[in-house]
Amino acid sequence: MPHALARPLVVRQAATPLGGKIRVPGDKSISHRALMFAGLAQGDTRITGLLEGEDVLRTASAMRALGAVVTRQADESWRVSGRGIGQLAEPEDVLDMGNSGTAARLLAGILASHPIVSVMTGDASLRGRPMRRVIDPLSLTGASFTARAGGRLPLCIAGLGEPKPLSYRLPVASAQVKSAILLAGLNTSGETVVEEPAPTRDHSENMLRHFGAEVSVEPTQAGHGRGRVIRLTGRPTLVGRDVSVPSDPSSAAFPLVAALLVPGSCITLEAVGLNPLRTGLIATLIEMGADIQVMNQRVEGGEPVGDLVVTASALTGVDVPADRAPSMIDEYPVLAVAAAFASGTTRMRGLEELRVKESDRLASTVALLTVNGVQVTVDGDDMIVTGGRSVPGGGRVATQMDHRLAMSAVVLGLGAEKPVTIDDTSFIETSFPGFTTLMNRIGACLPVDVPA
Ligand code: S3P
Repeated sequence: MPHALARPLVVRQAATPLGGKIRVPGDKSISHRALMFAGLAQGDTRITGLLEGEDVLRTASAMRALGAVVTRQADESWRVSGRGIGQLAEPEDVLDMGNSGTAARLLAGILASHPIVSVMTGDASLRGRPMRRVIDPLSLTGASFTARAGGRLPLCIAGLGEPKPLSYRLPVASAQVKSAILLAGLNTSGETVVEEPAPTRDHSENMLRHFGAEVSVEPTQAGHGRGRVIRLTGRPTLVGRDVSVPSDPSSAAFPLVAALLVPGSCITLEAVGLNPLRTGLIATLIEMGADIQVMNQRVEGGEPVGDLVVTASALTGVDVPADRAPSMIDEYPVLAVAAAFASGTTRMRGLEELRVKESDRLASTVALLTVNGVQVTVDGDDMIVTGGRSVPGGGRVATQMDHRLAMSAVVLGLGAEKPVTIDDTSFIETSFPGFTTLMNRIGACLPVDVPA
């Protein structure tokens, strides 16, 4: 249900090719982590390229409420004066994490490992998302949690100054849960061990090392030999450092797919993060026949980045294996849009985790395609899209407080025959501030503030 300040949008087929060079905003996962680790470090951290989307601003407010000094500088960098591990203060009020599952789950690890009582809540979408996945392991530290039925927010956490170190095998491959456990492990005397059944984004491990912690990663036999064991030595001294945040590959995905679909397009996306645990969409699109060239590969702030040159391409359906899901978990809605414009069938396997994102993304993506005349079915945890060069469009899309669904609908509208109406694009601000302006800079001609 769209809220009172809903921003509807009608998207028409692009009349001319997309072109030009843009840089999408900073990586959301890395931005949350930069603020949290900096708040736990001693001394000052300077963050450049921080994503100034609503989700990350919630993390900034939460870290302030816990006593870190977080300020935006005149040069648009951010400065965090940290309190040190175990030194965060009890927040005076409820911590509202808005729409952000990452902020809520990672912060739970910090709150559980400090001798403070806190209450965390979020918007209607976040209040519907499962928190058991972090409550269960973090309870083993001795911290106590009181949540609504089903482990939903609001959540009250009574943390401990001497939490027990965890040795925990993740039941689902989730970087959020892994990171919550590692964050809790920072204030334990002893070793914290997390085993993941498949590799998930490793920004926490990379950034912990960057701030001076000792972290080791080894392969295991779990998950058919794809698992990993991560070990963190507790009570390190984290020292404030410079952090440079690359552009978010999950945000780049939207102009990237749009450029593939709109005939004659060629765009350049600058300095996109290319951490191999995030690049499943690029690999899949290349298998589908996409012309994506990676130029100027380099390392910035400890993460690989490159410029992507994307040229409109005729795509063909493929079979996307389940074990690729962790490396493109947020990209399935826009991949489904690409599949709608690809000839033949695309089967995306093993999508059970999509059901617990900002919306039930399996259901909402199916609805996005169905209302726009695309043939799509669900078989167990697989989504099967039968595409074609032309997509009818003409549908009204319910975005369900989900930023990525809204942006995927915009991309679909740019390629579809008839205009696509989107009930509410306001949630795009959570991860991609300036989306409309940037899309218009490459020629999308999206209406600005025109009611549906
Ligand atoms: C994230 C991990 C992913 C992803 C989310 C950001 C992170 O969630 O969907 O948008 O920053 O750790 P899961 O790890 O729960 O799959």
